Amino acid sequence: MNKFRRAALSGITASVFAVLAALSPMFFYASRSNQHVFLDIALFAGFTQILFWLIVVNAVVATVWAALAFKKRDFLDARSAPFSAAFAVTDFFTTAFCILNVVLLISGGEETSPIVLQEAARLTPYALLYFAIVFFAIFFPEIKNKIARIAVVSVAAAALTLGAALTIYSPAIYDFESAPMVLDTGSDYSIVFATTDEGTGYVEYEYEGETYRVYDQKQGKIECDSRVHSVRVPYEHLDNNSYSVGSTQMFEPYAYGSRRGKTITSEKYSFVPCDGETQVWLCVSDWHTRNDLAKQAVGYLGDYDGVILLGDASPDLNTEDELVRYLVAFGGDLSRGAMPVVYTRGNHETRGAYAPYLADALGLDEFFFEVKAGDYRFVVLDSGEDKEDGHDEYGGLADFAAYRAENTAWVESLSGDEKTIAVCHSPRFFLETELTDRAIAALKRLNTSLTLSGHWHYCSLDTELYPDLPVFIDGGHNDGVFIASRVILSPNGITLFACNDDGESVFEERTLAWLN
Ligand SMILES: [Fe+2]
Repeated sequence: MNKFRRAALSGITASVFAVLAALSPMFFYASRSNQHVFLDIALFAGFTQILFWLIVVNAVVATVWAALAFKKRDFLDARSAPFSAAFAVTDFFTTAFCILNVVLLISGGEETSPIVLQEAARLTPYALLYFAIVFFAIFFPEIKNKIARIAVVSVAAAALTLGAALTIYSPAIYDFESAPMVLDTGSDYSIVFATTDEGTGYVEYEYEGETYRVYDQKQGKIECDSRVHSVRVPYEHLDNNSYSVGSTQMFEPYAYGSRRGKTITSEKYSFVPCDGETQVWLCVSDWHTRNDLAKQAVGYLGDYDGVILLGDASPDLNTEDELVRYLVAFGGDLSRGAMPVVYTRGNHETRGAYAPYLADALGLDEFFFEVKAGDYRFVVLDSGEDKEDGHDEYGGLADFAAYRAENTAWVESLSGDEKTIAVCHSPRFFLETELTDRAIAALKRLNTSLTLSGHWHYCSLDTELYPDLPVFIDGGHNDGVFIASRVILSPNGITLFACNDDGESVFEERTLAWLN
């Protein structure tokens, strides 16, 4: 091999390593939502920060080596011992970081890996910008052929113009993500729906001869900076009525006018409340991003009149997109905008950067409330997180002890003697035994006949946890199998049944008597 070929090969090898090294920070950063906290807990707090900056420095060094390999061929081709060693160290780190990223991606499994890839896709423009800067600063001057230089500049100018145009005028089709989800807030309905991009949201219906258009707004100002829209509507306006939802895509909400996109309107949905003597409620818990598998199990449970979502939609709520995909669109698909949905927050919905905005996005005042369904009542409680507030996993952002105390005081303040079912994500209710004992005492005073829970990822009727207050643990996802359940309320009692995504019964139909 002659000297020139050897030099060109070392330049190409160095460039391949430089590209891999430059992609490493992007994938490592995209993996941060779940895996990093466990790496930090296992090693020492701040370990992933140090590792991240090491990966960034390695990317810069690898780029410098690639540039030198191209620019100073003779110098590098000599391969003096220090340079060979430095090359080898960078290549070793680049290989190690690539393996680390692949391991992080694989260890995320089917639950976290798609979220990591979505985040990596979001970060891709930054990586492309880095490559473009490096190319034009270092490699472009090396192109001596005039036609090739003109071709590169033309392609780059066209890409830049197209990129700018697509940023300003989004080519994505503006549409609804699913049918709306009509949440029962305890005092009215919150009609929640999501769109493919940010925009306004409104609900339209007729009631007693009058036409209503109710916007998702705050103090008179229409909200337009979200993909999730929620509109509160009184019970009597929606019950046995039809409605549609609409949205206008918003690019820039300027003071004088605004730069708007398309306005879309949904089909008409007929809404039927769940208030009959016999009510069939679908229960789904702990789907952890397995929307399709959950829907497959639901398909074997027959018709239902209402939906109870028992929490844990995804590993966390780091972005609005996770809320859209795994909770709003999922709830909309199951309820088809036609029936009420009762939602209790899972502990995984308390995690992530978007978690504090969940109640507002869903149009809920609180995560604990009473829902009246004809002669029956659901007391919805929120267990918050399942570990103490100081746990490393929460990054100093949990203050659930005080919140659970508030929850407990609220349930103690309730009265009434309806046929009652408690709904709470964790079968253990609250982390604090004292608070759980108080909540159980209050629920018994309210003649609560059953608690519906999830969190444990198996299906069981537990009569041992609390004397005289059985807990039905719904099921959810476990090792590739999904269990969903059905709860029928009638004057005769509460009939439970559960099946898996193959349609096999995993909890034979059984009826519990009401306490009152
Ligand atoms: Fe959970």
